[in-house]
Amino acid sequence: DIGELGRDRGLAVYVVGGFVRDLLLHQPNFDVDLVVEGDGIAFAEAMAKAFHGRAKSHPKFKTAVVVLSDGKRIDVATARLEYYEYPAALPTVELSSIKMDLYRRDFTINALAVHLNPERFGELADFFGAQRDIKDRVVRVLHSLSFVEDPTRILRAIRFSERYGFRIGAQTERLIKNALQHNFFHKLSGARLFHEISLILGEENPLSCLRRMQQYKLLSAIHPLLALDTAKETLLTATDNVIKWYRLLYMEQAPRIWLVFFLGLCSGLDDEQFATIANRLGFTKKMLAELGSLRHAVRKTAHRLYNWEYLKLPVSELYFLLNGLSLEGLLYLMARNPKESIQKHISLYLTKLCDTQIEITGEDLQIMGVEPGPRYGRILRAVTAAAVDGVAVSRERQLE
Ligand code: CTP
Repeated sequence: DIGELGRDRGLAVYVVGGFVRDLLLHQPNFDVDLVVEGDGIAFAEAMAKAFHGRAKSHPKFKTAVVVLSDGKRIDVATARLEYYEYPAALPTVELSSIKMDLYRRDFTINALAVHLNPERFGELADFFGAQRDIKDRVVRVLHSLSFVEDPTRILRAIRFSERYGFRIGAQTERLIKNALQHNFFHKLSGARLFHEISLILGEENPLSCLRRMQQYKLLSAIHPLLALDTAKETLLTATDNVIKWYRLLYMEQAPRIWLVFFLGLCSGLDDEQFATIANRLGFTKKMLAELGSLRHAVRKTAHRLYNWEYLKLPVSELYFLLNGLSLEGLLYLMARNPKESIQKHISLYLTKLCDTQIEITGEDLQIMGVEPGPRYGRILRAVTAAAVDGVAVSRERQLE
């Protein structure tokens, strides 16, 4: 095992960070991060050999990823003696390299390590009161420069505190406010900001994170156009309800939940304003184009959907109407159109109609001697329509 491998090579090996935090909180976590006191890359290579995996190393950072044969990934980092030169360090001689490695991290709750070597297996290394903070349910930074070093940690503090129902410690909260007053966010690259925002929007409870961000005036610090107003809050609440509803369906297809919420967060923005936000968040041209056209498609589909309802068109027309929109687009469409009948139509599509299959293909038509050309499309569409309307009829019968 990993610990024996460490012992045989004379190295101390620890599992650290989120895995240990979640272990103490009885939460599932399958992201294993190891820290080795010594050469992490050589250790990762030895691990790869012992477990028939591959090691990908990043010599610049002295880290490696071991990819096991079942695809699982284990991150391996090196706790180096150079860490003793850390500027905010305490009297350096006292510090072991694992302690220094943990001290570089964001919050006490993330600064725990467990020994893996057989002679000390399972022993907890807790230098900064992490167990106490987990017990007291509080997110605390390890030192006062934490947010100066990395302002994304402000978003992480909110993410963890909402995820676990922890409060943010008083001093940590002061440091957050101070960091915001000094506009540390301006220094952050769009890509890093966006990464953190998408993590927040992918949490179990993004809405409460957003409210918290609003309280700290963090949304407007990122960009004034992102600030919550009543309309946006209503829409985000509706988004939250739609996502909760969709989760309960246990459908096979998993939407990118962050994207549904992101669309909600950008509701009310025109194209130019949306481009401004995209620019602040470092979107690539491709991503801006993709999200921009998704926003358009949602708007267009909404119009058509109201028309479809008004004109009492057949269900197959509903199918063709919604078939062109991604799952995220559909869920957002539901959220932004709270009219009950509209939600019912989308729900019918998602739960019954969307996986309508027809047996016939273009190839069959060819074998039947149908001249190739635009007729193919028309025929297949007609068959699909018949199949969809069939599904709808049988559903109505079931309901009767
Ligand atoms: N870390 C940090 N500062 C950051 C990001 C990460 O100090 N801006 C540290 C944290 O101590 C964290 C570790 O790096 O425990 C690994 O980061 P990550 O995988 O993002 O954190 P997890 O705690 O595993 O979070 P999650 O449960 O969301 O995966």
